[in-house]
Amino acid sequence: MCGIVGAVAQRDVAEILVEGLRRLEYRGYDSAGVAIINNADINRVRRLGKVKELSDALALEPLNGGTGIAHTRWATHGEPSEINAHPHISGSDIAIVHNGIIENHQQLKEQLIAKGYEFSSATDTEVMAHLVAEEFKQTNDLLSAVQNAVKQFDGAYGAVFMHREMPEQLIVARSGSPLVIGKGIGEMFVASDQLALLPVTRQFLYLEEGEVAQVTRTELQIYSRDGNKVDRDFEESSIQHDVGDKGPYRHYMLKEIYEQPDAIANTLEGRIKDGSINSDIFGEKAKDIFATLEAIQIVACGTSYHAGMVAKYWCEEIANIPCHVEIASEYRYRKSFVPKNALFITISQSGETADTLAALRLAKESGFMSSLSICNVPGSSLVRESDLAFMTRAGAEIGVASTKAFTTQLASLLMLIVAIAKHKGLAEAEIKKYVSALEALPGEINRALEQNPLIEELAEDFSEKHHSLFLGRGDQYPIAMEGALKLKEISYIHAEAYAAGELKHGPLALIDHEMPIVVVAPQNELLEKLKSNMEEVRARGGQLYVFADSSSNFVNDDGIKVVNVNSEHEVTAPIVYTLPLQLLSYHVAVIKGTDVDQPRNLAKSVTVE
Ligand code: G6P
Repeated sequence: MCGIVGAVAQRDVAEILVEGLRRLEYRGYDSAGVAIINNADINRVRRLGKVKELSDALALEPLNGGTGIAHTRWATHGEPSEINAHPHISGSDIAIVHNGIIENHQQLKEQLIAKGYEFSSATDTEVMAHLVAEEFKQTNDLLSAVQNAVKQFDGAYGAVFMHREMPEQLIVARSGSPLVIGKGIGEMFVASDQLALLPVTRQFLYLEEGEVAQVTRTELQIYSRDGNKVDRDFEESSIQHDVGDKGPYRHYMLKEIYEQPDAIANTLEGRIKDGSINSDIFGEKAKDIFATLEAIQIVACGTSYHAGMVAKYWCEEIANIPCHVEIASEYRYRKSFVPKNALFITISQSGETADTLAALRLAKESGFMSSLSICNVPGSSLVRESDLAFMTRAGAEIGVASTKAFTTQLASLLMLIVAIAKHKGLAEAEIKKYVSALEALPGEINRALEQNPLIEELAEDFSEKHHSLFLGRGDQYPIAMEGALKLKEISYIHAEAYAAGELKHGPLALIDHEMPIVVVAPQNELLEKLKSNMEEVRARGGQLYVFADSSSNFVNDDGIKVVNVNSEHEVTAPIVYTLPLQLLSYHVAVIKGTDVDQPRNLAKSVTVE
C-alpha cells in the first residue's frame, strides 16, 4: 500500500510529485509528504489527511529543487499522524519514502538506539533511514550504503532514498513492493505505479525482486540482489486509460458502475470468435495445459475472492473439473494438498496483493502443473510471475470499492472455464449458449442500471440501520457476499452474507423488524427453496429487499420490497445481479455522507500482509 513518487530533474519537481501523489491516492490516504533537496538541504512538508492538505500547505510554503521524493500513506506501523508521515529523514542527511513492512524493525531499532540514533516516529521506515545512514558512514556512498542495508531487512519494501549532498541521484530498492522507473527527456522519475507518472512519461521499466538501482537525470544503473549489473530496456506503457476525471458523475465509484457495459464489452472484444472461445487467448501454452488439466485451485483476496467463488460453481458445472477456492492469506500459511495436473489461478485487480503474490510463489514451489493470473494491470507482479495471464481490461478503477474490476473478472473467468470445458469435450451447442450469454451481458447490464432511481429510493431505508443480512443460494451466494462487502466498505453498516439455507442454523435469531434482509433471487431451480427461506424471515418480522426476475411474480407488500432485475441467461445472472447491489451500497453511502471513493481505513492495492 502507500504511494511513492520521486524525481531527478533540472526543473522544480514539487508539482510533478504532488500530481503523482494525487494519482496514487487510491493506495492510501491518511497522510502525505514531500521532501526536496535545495542547496544541500532537505526541505520537507508533511500533512495528516489527504494529498489536498499537503498541496494546500505547499501553496503557502513552496519547495524548490529538482530532486525530491513524496509519499501518500496507509498506516501500518504507527498511527496516521504528521510525525509518522513519510518522507523520514536520518539526521538531516538521508531521506526515504517506503512502501511495505520491515518485519525485523524492532531488533534493528534496538541496535540503532544502542549506536546513538534517535527516533521521532513509530514507523518501521525510520529504521531504514537510520540504517542506511549508519552504512553510509562506512562507505560515503549512497548506493553501496543502500545495498548493504537492504541485506539486513526482513520483510517487504519498495523504497527510494536521497542524500542532501548528492542531488544528482536517487537510489531505489525493491523487494515485495513494486517500483517503476520512468524515463523523461533529461530527467527520470520513480513511482510505485505507472499511473503516477503518466503526465510526464510513457517510457517505463519495472525493478525486479531484490534489485537496487541508481537513478540520475540521464542514466539508470540496476544491480541484482548479489550486486551484479543488470541491463534492461525501458518499454512504452500499454496503459490505454488514464485516470481521467469523474465526468458527469459525483463519484468515481458511480462512474465505474456505469462503465461496466463498456468494460465488459472490452473484456470480450476479440476473444470470442465464431460463437466459440479458443484457449489461445490465454497464451500459447494454454492449449497443452487445458488439455491435461484435472483440477483447479483459485486463490485471491476480497472482492477477487468472491469472483473465484462464483467461478467454482461454473467450473464444476460447465467443465466438470474439481475447483477449490481459498483466501490467499489462509492458503499461504497452511500445508495444502496439490492435486495432480492442477492449474493454480490467482485473481487480482491490482496484481500486487501481497498475500496473493506469496500464495503464487508458494504454489510454484509446491508442484502445480501451471499458473494463470486473471488481472487488470499488465506488467504487474502477478502477471509477470504467472505462466499464463489474462487481462480483464476494466480500465483504471479509482474507487476503492471494486465494481467494474469484479464484473470483468467474472466475464474473464467464464470465458476461461468455457475454453477449458471445450478441451474436455463440451458440446458445441453448449459452448454457443455460454458465448451468447456473454455477448448479451453489456445490454443486460444496461437494463439493470435502469433500476437506479428505484434503488436510490430503497437506500433511504438503510441509512439509519446498523446491521443487515444478504442472502443468496448457489452461484448467487458469492454475489450476496460481494453485496454485503460493498455495503460495509463504503457505508460502514455491518453487513453479513449467508447462503440462505443456513438461515435456520443461527442467523434467524437476529431477525426482527429492525433488520433489513437483501435477497438475490434470480429465476433458477433454487428459487422455490429461496422463497421458503424468505418466508422464514417474513414470519419473524424482517424487512425483505428482493432483487428478482419479473417472471418470479414477487410483489411489493408488507415486509417485502421488490426490484426487478431481468437476466435472460442463468449462467451470467451472478454478473447482472451484482449491479443493483453496487448501486444500493453506493446510494446508502451517499445518504450517510461517507467518503465513497476513499472509505476510511481501506486502500485499493494491499501490498502488505
Ligand atoms: C483491497 C481492495 C479490494 C480488493 C482486495 C484484493 O482490499 O480494496 O477492492 O478486492 O484488496 O485486491 P486485488 O487487487 O488482489 O484484487
